[in-house]
Amino acid sequence: MGNFYNDDLIEEIRVGNDIVSVVSEYVKLERKGKNYFGLCPFHREKTPSFSIEPLKQIFYCFGCGKGGNVIHFTMAAENIEFTEAIKFLAERSGVTLPEGDGSGELEKARLRKELFEVNKTAARYFYENLNSEAGHAAKKYLIERGLKENTLRRFGLGFSAESSDSLCKYMEAHGSNMDMLAKSGLAIAGKNHMFYDRFKGRVMFPIFDLRGNITGFGGRIIEANTSLPKYVNSPETPVYSKSRSLYALNLAKNSGIGTLLVVEGYMDVISLHQNGIINSVASLGTSLTEGQARLLKKYSEEIVISFDSDAAGQSAAMRSLDMLDEMGCRVRVLRIPEGKDPDDYIKKKGPAAFRKLIETAQPVVEYKTAILKQEIDTGSTEGKIKFISRLAEILSKLDSRVEMEMYARKIARDYGISEESVYGEITRKTKPGTSTRTIKSRESASVIKITDNEANKRLKQYEIKLLSVLCTDNAAYNDIKGKITPMDFTNGSNRKIAEIIFERLDNNIEIAPAELFNILDPDIAGDYAGIIEKDCIYDDYRKAAADIAVKIKSEHMERRHVELMETLNGKEKLTPEDLKRLLGELDGILHQKRKK
Ligand code: GTP
Ligand code: MN
Repeated sequence: MGNFYNDDLIEEIRVGNDIVSVVSEYVKLERKGKNYFGLCPFHREKTPSFSIEPLKQIFYCFGCGKGGNVIHFTMAAENIEFTEAIKFLAERSGVTLPEGDGSGELEKARLRKELFEVNKTAARYFYENLNSEAGHAAKKYLIERGLKENTLRRFGLGFSAESSDSLCKYMEAHGSNMDMLAKSGLAIAGKNHMFYDRFKGRVMFPIFDLRGNITGFGGRIIEANTSLPKYVNSPETPVYSKSRSLYALNLAKNSGIGTLLVVEGYMDVISLHQNGIINSVASLGTSLTEGQARLLKKYSEEIVISFDSDAAGQSAAMRSLDMLDEMGCRVRVLRIPEGKDPDDYIKKKGPAAFRKLIETAQPVVEYKTAILKQEIDTGSTEGKIKFISRLAEILSKLDSRVEMEMYARKIARDYGISEESVYGEITRKTKPGTSTRTIKSRESASVIKITDNEANKRLKQYEIKLLSVLCTDNAAYNDIKGKITPMDFTNGSNRKIAEIIFERLDNNIEIAPAELFNILDPDIAGDYAGIIEKDCIYDDYRKAAADIAVKIKSEHMERRHVELMETLNGKEKLTPEDLKRLLGELDGILHQKRKK
């Protein structure tokens, strides 16, 4: 990897970022023995094959073969280059990078901290307002909507006064800088250095991140008939991004329930929490963003989504469902009868009825089928054909053949179609036993086969194994020193890596497995991680190193033997001197082989 930073600094940054803690910010991990497991963030899967070995500080996915150290993980997870990943991790662990590369990051961290402070002070002000004379009408409104005192407190609800600069004045009196207030989105800068409140006469909903910082606000008007928008939200700021926040996730993530329920609105979530549905979060708008989906995946085993049943709600639902499915999430869809929203429903029917809705929420395929049935009039033959064809499209995307058949049978029964016609259509849409995804991965597998024959692969694996063993137990170097050199490694990345490792060990500079990864390109890091995790477990690493070195030497000898025989068979093209030299070499090889 072309590195801008020096090796020691890179290593310091790597060591400063524990891989388990970094990965935990993206993947829900579970400890099993000495390793952690979770759902791989790099490919679709429903059972965890992504593993981390904390002792070695490396990750490896047994499913897709991606692997490496914390730097590779960050590169892949954030989709950034090596240098960017180093900056990202340096900031995370508080390491200052040389020459202006770090100062910007530190500046950013300081700004974020200040914005959190501003938001906290403002939230306190809004809260006091709600509970004083100024907030009387707002409070009355909330209580009339059924919210209890301690719910208001739990969610930190507040009220922004009607005046156009009361927050600005308050903040100024409390020593806040107005530019900072504008950066937080709470104030809007006008002409002549004047600042105005963004939120006026609104019930205020502070939005918390997972560490309990207030990142932004939502504000709802209280009087019904006005031309003002019902909600105003904080703009995007250095600490708030709507597409990466889920309202109430800070509470829901601690519910101890594997399922997260996603609803649309602030009021829905608050009402649900008050009624004991404490695993609910709000997406704050219709369609889920990718960032929100990633958060959901990380904090849940299963996601239940409740969407409005209007047309806009439904097409937003479809996009969100497809995205979650792509990420490998388990999803079901909750539809509230009579098109009501969760808040209305739970108030009218009570928590038990709502829980029943969660329990009976539909799996995605069933939901999609039901929507299809609504859209297409299956009374006519034409409609029926269209229905089956669209249905087959949905079913053909399923990963599992068993699941596909199960649904085909169920749907045939539910909608009065013959099983044969459903199967027939699915078969037309897919090649037997395959989905489009598996076809793609098969194609790339065959490309690899052509470029890399089995023997070459085996040899390279021995080489990687030896290098991994040397990093796992540096003392093993003594057992191979002088018996094998970097020149015995396949020309290319393995030889280069061998040169670096051998040189370090020659100079008595230690190297750990995860440090080895600092010098690996991401596309070969997976091969190394795979071998370390699967094939590199020995009682005696020193003996293992010696054995593998012998294997590599003899693999090379075998190849040279074949090569020599081929050259000698075309002997008419050789000069007498060459012939003599090659015969001498062959003699040596045969002698070596006889000795074994
Ligand atoms: P109530 O109408 O008080 O029950 O609030 P709600 O939270 O149930 O809102 P609703 O279902 O109407 O909308 C769902 C979510 O969409 C809200 O919580 C807001 O996050 C967002 N939203 C609704 N109306 C607006 C609007 O006028 N502007 C903006 N920016 N967002 C809105
Ligand atoms: Mn509502």
